[in-house]
Amino acid sequence: MRRKPPIVLGTKRKKRSPHPSHDSEKLVHQLRRSHEDLESRVQQRTAELLQNNQALEAEIVQRRQTEESRLCALRSVVETQEAERSRLARELHDEFSQKLAALGIGLKGLGDELPAQSPLQLRLAELLNIVDGLMRDMHTLVWKLRPPALDDLGLVDALRRYTGDWMKLSGIPVDFHSRGLGGRVLPPQLEITLYRIAQEALTNVFKHARATRVSILLEDNRNRAALIIEDDGRGFRVEQLSKDGADAQGHFGLIAMRERAALAGGALEIESTPGSGTTVFVRIPLSAQPRKGETGK
Ligand SMILES: Nc1ncnc2c1ncn2[C@@H]1O[C@H](COP(=O)(O)OP(=O)(O)O)[C@@H](O)[C@H]1O
Ligand SMILES: [Mg+2]
Repeated sequence: MRRKPPIVLGTKRKKRSPHPSHDSEKLVHQLRRSHEDLESRVQQRTAELLQNNQALEAEIVQRRQTEESRLCALRSVVETQEAERSRLARELHDEFSQKLAALGIGLKGLGDELPAQSPLQLRLAELLNIVDGLMRDMHTLVWKLRPPALDDLGLVDALRRYTGDWMKLSGIPVDFHSRGLGGRVLPPQLEITLYRIAQEALTNVFKHARATRVSILLEDNRNRAALIIEDDGRGFRVEQLSKDGADAQGHFGLIAMRERAALAGGALEIESTPGSGTTVFVRIPLSAQPRKGETGK
């Protein structure tokens, strides 16, 4: 029996091209072409990217301009609103309250002239009661519209007085502390901003929080005015409110607070957890404030 020759793997010879130099030229040519192709695609893509980038930059500039004009419009709305509030407060105080006082005095005089047993005395007493109520309502309105204390006392004392009055009206105790702002005179626009934010925050505490305590801290912290209002009430879901669109639901208080802080070059943050109270933080760099003589526009 004849033995089969052993199978040797890998020994099969490749067919050699009859023209080796021709092949490698072809390969080089192909390589060059694909290189050129790639190069032109890269150039095209780079040009596209550059164009996109320029379009984006133009959009950013446009958005910034839109935001600036929005803030500018908002600032003039807020300033007009403040001026109008002042005018209303003055008018109410000077005109209306004088006339109410005169009405009260007139009614009292009438009562003195009528016999004590006259059935009209009862009617007069009722009218006098209404006049008294109107006087009180008007004082509260003037107090809300334009706190005279802010002009006379400056922010720290005006806020201290406001929180004292608020405490009596709401029955909720407030701890008010101020640090580092004692003798400092802040620009009037900034004082109004912080005062109004505190007012709105306290109004929210009264309306929504069911708190048993409020603490307010006003300080100059490394050249930044900080206002912190904290309550121990029932809290709320801040993200939920932003998601649902607070403005769509007619809640403008928090939005107005944020915008006021932004207009003064600062920021407002709210931390709240259902069941664990709410804290409003406002921080405004004092360096961002217009100096005396500048309007801030
Ligand atoms: N201190 C707070 N405690 C509990 N809930 C609050 C507080 N502040 C705000 N909220 C919630 O946030 C909502 C939006 O407040 P705001 O924008 O001031 O609108 P408004 O007071 O008119 O409802 C309120 O309706 C309330 O649910
Ligand atoms: Mg509110």
